[in-house]
Amino acid sequence: MPYFDVVIVGAGAAGLFCAAQAGQRGLRVLLIDHAERVAEKIRISGGGRCNFTNRHLDPRTGHQHYLGQNPQFARSALSRFTPQHFIDLVEKNGIAFHEKHKGQLFADRSAQDIVRMLLDACALAGVQRWQPCTIETIEAEAACAPRSGFSRYRLHTSQGLVQAHNLVVATGGLSIPKIGATDFGYRIAKQFGLPIVAQRPGLVPLRFAGEDWAPYADLAGVALPVRISTGEKKPAIAFDEDLLFTHRGLSGPAILQISSYWQPGQPLTIDLLPHLDIAAALQEAKASSKKQLPNLLAQWLPTRLAEAWCQHTPAWQGPVNQCSDKALAQLAHSLSHWQITPSGTEGYAKAEVTLGGVDTQALAQQSMQAKQQPGLFFIGEVVDITGWLGGYNFQWAWASAYVCAQAL
Ligand code: FDA
Repeated sequence: MPYFDVVIVGAGAAGLFCAAQAGQRGLRVLLIDHAERVAEKIRISGGGRCNFTNRHLDPRTGHQHYLGQNPQFARSALSRFTPQHFIDLVEKNGIAFHEKHKGQLFADRSAQDIVRMLLDACALAGVQRWQPCTIETIEAEAACAPRSGFSRYRLHTSQGLVQAHNLVVATGGLSIPKIGATDFGYRIAKQFGLPIVAQRPGLVPLRFAGEDWAPYADLAGVALPVRISTGEKKPAIAFDEDLLFTHRGLSGPAILQISSYWQPGQPLTIDLLPHLDIAAALQEAKASSKKQLPNLLAQWLPTRLAEAWCQHTPAWQGPVNQCSDKALAQLAHSLSHWQITPSGTEGYAKAEVTLGGVDTQALAQQSMQAKQQPGLFFIGEVVDITGWLGGYNFQWAWASAYVCAQAL
């Protein structure tokens, strides 16, 4: 029966990186994935250019860009393997990249360059890959002697039995099932008695329905920069990003970011003109302009949105100089504090990530090893650590994979 120092399940971002790092340390590594194609999520990420890290992630405060029961858990890994470490690798491999927005780094040419870099590193480190290969059962040996070379895990796979001293679970989250996402990692955690934090889709478009939404239902394609927040926490978490109206609701970076914080039933609060004192601007216009309000608003908002905003309120349809102060104040407030409650999310089919996962309380933050189960590790998105949009999720995948590989 073949024996490996480590079997890694899941050849995505975290699994590939961990395999390469462990192989470089001289370990015998087997990487197993059930999908036909390797690293599909990297390939489709960042619009095909892979937003592989974020330059603004400060190792000391970086956990603030993450969600989970205990985001502080991520600090150790994020400070030991920083964005600069990954940038160095990308540069060493001659992959050209650029910064797009708020520290987000993308490959110039294609996400495939990042996949190729990881595959080359695995090949160079002697990593064996079984793909496509399904794992039927996993057994832990009864005796867990901590000496090297001792097999602690036995895996029954579609390619036969295999033994390993360490088992690393890098099966990712539930998002985009059509490219291979499964709940296998959570099932392994349950098998070994690790607690799981309930999962839900994150970085996901939101849906709206009913009368509240009716005035905006025809605005698909309209986009604008906004400030968005949700929840009762003070100070509220808020994002300054672009909002996009779609056929089914709202999307764009602003919505994806806030979706990870949104709880069903809660409203979103949106400032549609975050860089303008709209109350003052309307008062100023009242003194000097005879423009119809929708036309006036179109100076600052997309025209279709300005028209939709005013069309159901008679007091907002006349010339601005004839509007009452009260009507203008209400208009200003509605634009800077638009409150609307989503009816739901677009679900895992459209979510970039999965919130929740293996409870960090059960893992050692220096190694990602299960505290109660020697030789069992969880890395990447399967863990209850979820990043903001902008390269933070890949950085978590690299960092958690790195610290795990050093501990094997
Ligand atoms: P990942 O999902 O990468 O890999 C898991 C692997 O496990 C897969 O290869 C899968 O086939 C395998 N697997 C699953 N079940 C299995 C089983 N039963 N047996 C064997 N193998 C199994 N993040 C970011 O930082 N920047 C970005 O630009 C983007 N863009 C983006 C776009 C889109 C459309 C999505 C869906 C996601 C992103 N992300 C992102 C998020 C990012 O892709 C994600 O967080 C990482 O890929 C997570 O890495 P993991 O290795 O943990 O899981």
